[in-house]
Amino acid sequence: MKKNSTVLVPPEEMEKQRHFSELIYSKNLEFSSEIGRKPLAFVRTFGCQMNEHDSEKISGMLEEMGYGFCDGFEDADLIVLNTCCVRENAEDKVFGHIGGLKHLKKKRPWLVTAVCGCMTEQPHIVSEIKKSYRNVDLVFGTHNLHRLPELLYRVLDGGVRVYETSRTDNEVAEGVPVKRCGNVQAWVTVMYGCDNYCTYCIVPYVRGHERSRRPEDILAEVKKLCALGYSEITLLGQNVNSYGKDLEEGTDFAELLRLICENTPMRRIRFMTSHPKDISDRLIDVIAEFPAICNQLHLPVQSGSTRLLKRMNRHYTREQYLETVAKVRGRNPGITLTTDIIVGFPGETDEDFEDTLSLVEQVRYDQAYTFIYSRREGTPAAKYPDQVPEEIVKERFGRLLELQNRISREISEGYLGKTVEVLCEGFSKTNLSRYTGRTDGNKIVNFTSPENVTGRLVNVKIESIQTWSLEGSVTE
Ligand code: SAH
Ligand code: SF4
Ligand code: F3S
Repeated sequence: MKKNSTVLVPPEEMEKQRHFSELIYSKNLEFSSEIGRKPLAFVRTFGCQMNEHDSEKISGMLEEMGYGFCDGFEDADLIVLNTCCVRENAEDKVFGHIGGLKHLKKKRPWLVTAVCGCMTEQPHIVSEIKKSYRNVDLVFGTHNLHRLPELLYRVLDGGVRVYETSRTDNEVAEGVPVKRCGNVQAWVTVMYGCDNYCTYCIVPYVRGHERSRRPEDILAEVKKLCALGYSEITLLGQNVNSYGKDLEEGTDFAELLRLICENTPMRRIRFMTSHPKDISDRLIDVIAEFPAICNQLHLPVQSGSTRLLKRMNRHYTREQYLETVAKVRGRNPGITLTTDIIVGFPGETDEDFEDTLSLVEQVRYDQAYTFIYSRREGTPAAKYPDQVPEEIVKERFGRLLELQNRISREISEGYLGKTVEVLCEGFSKTNLSRYTGRTDGNKIVNFTSPENVTGRLVNVKIESIQTWSLEGSVTE
């Protein structure tokens, strides 16, 4: 057995959870006959796609337990806050909401409130909730999501507060029901956790060790999604390039992509996130080889300074990163490249920051997600003595944003008058008379169409641009 070898949650445990789910279902039937409607759940998600997908699982379990769903706090009989702690402002936002639950409980004394996700994997947060937020009934973590039926039953049946954060972090649960948000695009987790320990990052501490799902389970899920009519999947992992390191059979991520392409009719396949340190030539080749794999790569650089990259424990230099970009572009012309950048990492000098600006200028990303460094208790960088003063960080952040906005806009302008192929995902959220979708390269396109083309690939002529999105009309 390899170190940290991943194990499946035993079938008996999953069976037990189904049993508790049925018990809650019976309780909810009683509720429905008394009140004249199903109990309603509201699941609010903070954080990344991984959390979005976890919320889809939470909703899937709740649906099986007989819950209906509502879109806000006011109507809910059960509120679940699925939290993020990657930066301090994410945590502050959640505490604001937890505080607000108190007055909701006064109005609706039967209201059940739960807090889960990455924040609750930090012992000091759990202690704080226990002590200062007595209005929270249930706390659970990221590794025991599948135990929600049992934990919720203990709250509903015993009227007690239940706290259970993770007991183990080498398990993968299969067979958890999923209530998906979209009808066209779906998330598929390929691996959980992270073993990279970048010095600024809390994720490995709250998401645990890397655990890969078995290829056969992933294939079965993708096949099912095809049968349900989904056209696009995004494979999720904190670092998908580590996929398979913990598996006996030795399937790596490039091989997994090949298996999906060769064994399922899925039309579009995306994935995130790829750590630049272990992008393999095989992966770069597979993207080029299979048309179903979208011509797009999210390749977080974090900084353009080799000195800072070392301090961040990223295991690549500026030059190595640029070489990877050149290789990717050489093999996949026109590929959309996006990135994450942190500004104000401890010890960042003017020179380091200039290195970041020049790298951004050189790579010309389609889009960059830029973050102000946030000190995370328990990470090595939180103890570094040379934290950068706030005013300097803000000024640098503004300059980076301005540069990237200009580049994004220039790239978007290149699309004016061109016709692009778009997979329509449905009506645009901001303007219901328009449709929205994305190109193979992940550009968002909002467009008009004489008929409903949801779920279809259509040609759209680009007539105007926003910084990050394109606008046009169907040409067919
Ligand atoms: N696993 C992914 C990203 C996870 S977190 C990856 O490695 O790419 C998403 C992004 O949040 C990171 O890429 C990083 O840019 C940012 N981030 C993580 N910790 C941070 C911190 N302490 N302060 C500011 N940004 C942070
Ligand atoms: Fe965090 Fe680094 Fe892991 Fe990404 S690779 S989740 S930034 S520790
Ligand atoms: Fe994602 Fe935030 Fe957790 S970014 S992994 S939800 S800490």
